Amino acid sequence: MPRYHQLKEILRERIRSGEWKSGDLIPSERELSELYGISRMTARQAITDLVNEGVFYREQGKGTFVTSHKITQQLMRLTGFTEDISARGQRPSTKVLSAEMLPADELTAERLRIPVGQLVFCLQRLRLADDEPLAIERSQLNFKGCEKLLEEDLEQNSLYQLLESSYGIPLMEAEQELEAGLAGEEDSRLLKIALDSAVLYTRRTTFTDRNQPVEYARSVYCGNKYTFYTHLKREQLFAS
Ligand code: GLP
Repeated sequence: MPRYHQLKEILRERIRSGEWKSGDLIPSERELSELYGISRMTARQAITDLVNEGVFYREQGKGTFVTSHKITQQLMRLTGFTEDISARGQRPSTKVLSAEMLPADELTAERLRIPVGQLVFCLQRLRLADDEPLAIERSQLNFKGCEKLLEEDLEQNSLYQLLESSYGIPLMEAEQELEAGLAGEEDSRLLKIALDSAVLYTRRTTFTDRNQPVEYARSVYCGNKYTFYTHLKREQLFAS
């Protein structure tokens, strides 16, 4: 394992164990490199990675701090729920609400580029972190043999992992929309939040390496427990 990976794990563990709390200032690159006998470059790389993952944030001239204990979903890298939650040191779990083959409606057919009415695998899951409900994910999947998913244990397995390792479907990229909203009756009951609480809706189409859409998923996240993180770079349009 590269050294900066090891350092990342050590730093994550300090959050997991509760030693570092949200808002705490973490040691500087120099202090970390002395403490663990590594180069400053390595320390910098580990910290930068964790900043990009939303675990830490930097404040100019002040240092690097631990982000509040929200779940961060990457908006640059394609990650699944299990990965997002594990990266925060929490335990992901799933309750399958339904799993069945159903005919695709118009929108789904358009997103999955299939004829309306074609049978697709429809999965509704309640997703939890440390036993706390965080999101409801309604996924529709289409690929040759997708009905085999009916036999999978989707409470114990990550969907992305199954697709990639058992079905040989490499997930390459996704398009995602985010929208604010208010929790309706069913969502508030499942997420254990008050009716009309703030929620975030996402709609994601995930593509394989052959640019084939494989999943169209509509999800609802508790608005106060999730952070969507993206790293923006300004194009150097005005550089002299
Ligand atoms: C997300 C996406 C879903 C996807 C899920 C996979 O959060 N919004 O579209 O189905 O990740 O997660 P997992 O691999 O944990 O099943």
